[in-house]
Amino acid sequence: MDVPTNTPSILAMADLATPMSIRVAATLSLVEHAGSAGATAEQLASDTETSAPVLRRLLDHLVTIGVFDLDAESGRYRPTSLGNQMSRDSPAGFKLLLDINCAGGRAELAFVELLGTITTGAPAYVHRYGREFWADLDTSPELRRSFDAQMNWRFQVQAPQIAERFDWTRFSEILDVGGGDGTVLAAILRTHPDLRGRVLDLSPTATAANDNFVAAGLDDRASAVSGSFFDPLPVGADVYLLSDILHDWDDDHARKILAGCRQAAAPNGTVVVIEPVLGQGASTAIDLFMLMCFGGEERTVDEVARLAADCGLVLRYSGPVADRRTALEFGVAPTQ
Ligand SMILES: C[S@@+](CC[C@H](N)C(=O)[O-])C[C@H]1O[C@@H](n2cnc3c(N)ncnc32)[C@H](O)[C@@H]1O
Repeated sequence: MDVPTNTPSILAMADLATPMSIRVAATLSLVEHAGSAGATAEQLASDTETSAPVLRRLLDHLVTIGVFDLDAESGRYRPTSLGNQMSRDSPAGFKLLLDINCAGGRAELAFVELLGTITTGAPAYVHRYGREFWADLDTSPELRRSFDAQMNWRFQVQAPQIAERFDWTRFSEILDVGGGDGTVLAAILRTHPDLRGRVLDLSPTATAANDNFVAAGLDDRASAVSGSFFDPLPVGADVYLLSDILHDWDDDHARKILAGCRQAAAPNGTVVVIEPVLGQGASTAIDLFMLMCFGGEERTVDEVARLAADCGLVLRYSGPVADRRTALEFGVAPTQ
């Protein structure tokens, strides 16, 4: 039975041929190999160590969907402006999310196991790759680097906003818990020359953060320590920052992280949570991704505040801090 032409087709929405063609093209760097002059299927097959007759079929579908043009006379496939978005040189920065050998692209492929997540609640990522996301990154420095690069890319606009739109001047030392390669802390310290800070993250990323602080000339005020936020945190900071951390975890783990921050921050410190919250920037697609990949979730301000209250933290303030990000500031509840 034909679907009326003005009705979106559910089958077209669910078609995997197109998204997988784009992801494979990005993984094989077809746009980079073709360049603006374009290349024949034979040249591209030689560059990518694939077989020309098979690759041609992929290229022909990429032409159908507007990612490449085919010059019939020369047989050259040339990337269109749409196709150029998947180049590693594109300012769009999508390559990291499409290339299935990068952390983002690899994680996205676990969506094919979504039925298992919906029926059992267990992360599809673990089912597909045999280990949790963070443990999987540990198996490959390249994968880890691609994740850190993705985190850095996604916060190009937001990190400076976080530095400017939240009043950090009240503090003297920040501990950025799970602070990645130091992107957020570096932005804050650049904007506030009187502040000092440390990143705490898993060891390869802590090393990358230290290198970045040196490269940015911030190493007199910034350093990184390797460790887990499930172990006792370093004391002595007056603010403990959790940027895009809690939504990676289920409630039990999120409570453990918050309790660790409370313990280190007591009696007078502050805990700041920055992340997308439901109703203020968190999308249903990202929420599903968090569930599928980590067993995590996007939460409302009230849900984060309730988790924090369970850990002896009292919400003092919440408000927008960056595009699609909300800041929630907590004080330590007095002990009875
Ligand atoms: C989504 S990233 C956020 C990074 C950074 N806070 C930002 O906003 O750019 C989550 C970070 O948590 C770190 N992480 C995961 N498990 C951890 C653990 N057990 N202890 C410390 N850091 C951890 C990861 O290495 C990663 O850098």
